[in-house]
Amino acid sequence: MANTMTMTDNRTGKSWEFPILSGTKGPDVVDIGSFYSQTGMFTFDQGYTSTASCKSAITFIDGEKGELMHRGYDIAWLAENKKFLDVVYLLLYKKLPSKEELESFRLELKQRSYINEKMLKLFDALPDKAHPMAALQSTVAMMSAYYKRDMNIDDISDFMELAKRLVAKIPTIIAFYYRHVRGFPQIYPDLDRGFVENFLYMLRAFPHDRVDLKPIEVKAFEAVLLLHADHEQNASTSTVRAVGSTHAHPYASISAGIGALWGHAHGGANEGVIRQLEEIGTPERVDEFIARAKDKNDPFRLMGFGHRVYKNFDPRAKVLGKLRDQLIDEIGIDTNLIKVAKRIEEIALNDEYFVSRKLYPNVDFNSGLILKALGIPNEMFAAIFVMGRVPGWLSQWMEQKENAPVKITRPRQLYVGAVDQAK
Ligand code: CMC
Repeated sequence: MANTMTMTDNRTGKSWEFPILSGTKGPDVVDIGSFYSQTGMFTFDQGYTSTASCKSAITFIDGEKGELMHRGYDIAWLAENKKFLDVVYLLLYKKLPSKEELESFRLELKQRSYINEKMLKLFDALPDKAHPMAALQSTVAMMSAYYKRDMNIDDISDFMELAKRLVAKIPTIIAFYYRHVRGFPQIYPDLDRGFVENFLYMLRAFPHDRVDLKPIEVKAFEAVLLLHADHEQNASTSTVRAVGSTHAHPYASISAGIGALWGHAHGGANEGVIRQLEEIGTPERVDEFIARAKDKNDPFRLMGFGHRVYKNFDPRAKVLGKLRDQLIDEIGIDTNLIKVAKRIEEIALNDEYFVSRKLYPNVDFNSGLILKALGIPNEMFAAIFVMGRVPGWLSQWMEQKENAPVKITRPRQLYVGAVDQAK
């Protein structure tokens, strides 16, 4: 018997059959593509909590078990055994690179790590203290005008050129903007130091001066990027796919993804975590804020807690938790901040409100503390999330294209507004 689900309208007794599809892992899905044409009704799923929007072979998450895999490789294994660039390669080329492939990939990125410096004029047009995400989102959108040779979006091999360009240039844009805001002399990228180390070097270096990075600093930053590389159909990835489905240019899609990531419910959360820890200030004030988080009449939320998908633990937070403690031991951080963070963790992990709602520390709880310990200013955190996530967005964009014909993303609605006003 075919795998189907029967749905019955209890008002009329009429029934319809819908196919059930199975993936290689995870819940089956009911294919409701013909739902409207068969029943004359739409389905309603605000926030898409029960909706699979596409087929994908990139990332698998089991939120109940706290499992995350990229192309079949467990995230904890990748974090322990591979570098960020290996994972970028894995996402884009669908396999882990050999030593030679990784080296030639690094060289390709090195050649593309400079930017057309006319684009820097945009920074002058921004008001003082403009958020780095405003600078990054506009610069990436502007890249579609500067790198026109990549405009054949129907050619997947052209797309790879564009993908390398974005992975290589985004760290340069972020570091240049950081230095521009502070009036520091610009430091050009040097990928011979390694892709990850180069970014910290670009933030810290001064001409004719040495930059000594501790191995634990590079290791912790590498882990932050690697653990953010992809996360299946989250809000920003769905945005990249939605914009891509209109056949807009990939630079426009990625720029839109940056906009979606900016919000504090998504990539802006790690910035919010530190702001909140600073606002709490001392471990003695934690109880007061926990009470606010639990108060139904207070919109306050504990930043860095909870996740739409993970209802057991966030495997990325687990990896980063260990590195956070190692980093803090080795280099030191504002101890009050870490005391506040540990007190929040301790209370929330044992409090009925958080336990019953399955609210655990998410990746941003620890990534914020790591970035803070690395001396990176709060307002840069979301831009660094972009640096980590861009390979994921690019691989998802490419997969959507490969699964052509691409259907434009166009949900419907339940209309609840006024009717027949003019009659
Ligand atoms: N503090 C206090 N209560 C919370 C929190 C929190 N951080 N998160 C969820 N809740 C409560 C919420 O009030 C609701 O309670 P009730 O059932 O009594 O109404 C219940 O838990 C379920 O919350 P929800 O908003 O329906 O859950 P969601 O899946 O729609 O939201 C979330 C997920 C991540 C947006 C939310 O947990 C949140 O706002 N967390 C804080 C922001 C944050 O850390 N975001 C980073 C997410 S991880 C990085 C990423 O993927 O971008």
